[in-house]
Amino acid sequence: MKIKARLAVVGIGGMGGQHLRELAAMEGVELAAVCDVDGAKADAAAEKYSVPAYHDARTLLAAVPLDGVVIATPHYDHATVASEAFGRGVSVLSEKPVAVTVRDARGMTAAYEAAKKLHPELFFSAMFQQRTQGNWMKVKEMIEAGELGRIVRASWIITDWFRTQAYYDSGGWRATWSGEGGGVLMNQCPHNLDLFQWFVGMPSRVTAFASLGKYHNIEVEDEVTAYFEYENGMVGHFITSTAEAPGTNRLELVGEHGKLVCEKGRLFFSKNAKSMLAHLREATAPWEPLPCEELEIPVTGPMTGNHRIVLEDFAAAIREGRPPRIDAREGVNMAALDNAIMYSALEKRTVALPLSEGAFEEKLRELQAGSRFVKVQRKFDVSADDFERSYKK
Ligand SMILES: NC(=O)c1ccc[n+]([C@@H]2O[C@H](COP(=O)([O-])OP(=O)(O)OC[C@H]3O[C@@H](n4cnc5c(N)ncnc54)[C@H](O)[C@@H]3O)[C@@H](O)[C@H]2O)c1
Repeated sequence: MKIKARLAVVGIGGMGGQHLRELAAMEGVELAAVCDVDGAKADAAAEKYSVPAYHDARTLLAAVPLDGVVIATPHYDHATVASEAFGRGVSVLSEKPVAVTVRDARGMTAAYEAAKKLHPELFFSAMFQQRTQGNWMKVKEMIEAGELGRIVRASWIITDWFRTQAYYDSGGWRATWSGEGGGVLMNQCPHNLDLFQWFVGMPSRVTAFASLGKYHNIEVEDEVTAYFEYENGMVGHFITSTAEAPGTNRLELVGEHGKLVCEKGRLFFSKNAKSMLAHLREATAPWEPLPCEELEIPVTGPMTGNHRIVLEDFAAAIREGRPPRIDAREGVNMAALDNAIMYSALEKRTVALPLSEGAFEEKLRELQAGSRFVKVQRKFDVSADDFERSYKK
């Protein structure tokens, strides 16, 4: 067992800066270096935390012996930096989305698995911090305990990701096909797409609609509606937008044993007196209602500080030589949902999963090559408090 995990942070913007502050205060962590392609940012952070600065990840990984690296660069670079780290026998905690495309997510997994053969103590985790939130852990526990029985519908209206034009103008990479490969689905919704597949698995068919720059001056999607069909007959809905205020965050899971609703962090369960599927077959009167009991399910786990929980877990996994709580290899499902939704919306047709890896990539390349969008960039000083508002509900 190691006393401290030697870690570096790559990408010290809003998110990486917060990770750096948290890691620097953790007992079981030795902050070994910082890295950002913006040299001034890297140097300022290096001075603040008394560690060396690097201006590119490859040089950092070649020069500094590390146990792990926390990647908080814009999305496309997650794959490049992670594969480089695995090649050096360094564990990775990647920000979400783990990768923009299924091919990149699979490539990262392959690089990890190959490197793990040489370095069995290597780990690959992802900042899907919402998986450590009390409400979502309870939903997962109830599904796994069979409390809902067979699930017939899963619907998530997740429109409380409101973003202003100033947000989109604050970074050159934001909301562009070349810079991040998508909009609300790729930037704000990776958490929700990951949770969706964590709760109910992957659909077999996706039909979706997406509006590109409908309310904001951006070239990517700011409003999406997707319909999912599952092999077992379950249907799903996923509705998101960055242009609703007030927005809604309501997950409904309808099972034969009742309806579980999560809204504003609270969980409500309408528990059926018997299986709805049995009742609809067995009831003798045409309109015989099925009684249910209305319950509020207590939520006990943490609802804040979840990034810190994942960082602490990653460092502890390295120290203790045990797998981290969140396995980044599952990030491929989030990418697959994103890619299938956008492909269906852009092609205006239903698509079957698994989607061929090349299909969405080709579409993305077309969008990148055909882009005539002129990005307006405005400099904003984003304070730590401001940045927290980007993910706090
Ligand atoms: N988990 C969450 O709740 C959460 C919240 C916000 C952002 N994020 C994720 O964090 C990542 C960064 O987002 P942000 O809002 O901090 O962006 P940002 O623009 O504020 O910061 C990105 C930083 O990375 C640097 N950078 C770019 N390419 C680099 C490279 N190849 N090597 C080293 N540094 C590089 C930039 O100079 C910048 O300082 C994104 O993938 C985003 O999805 C996650």
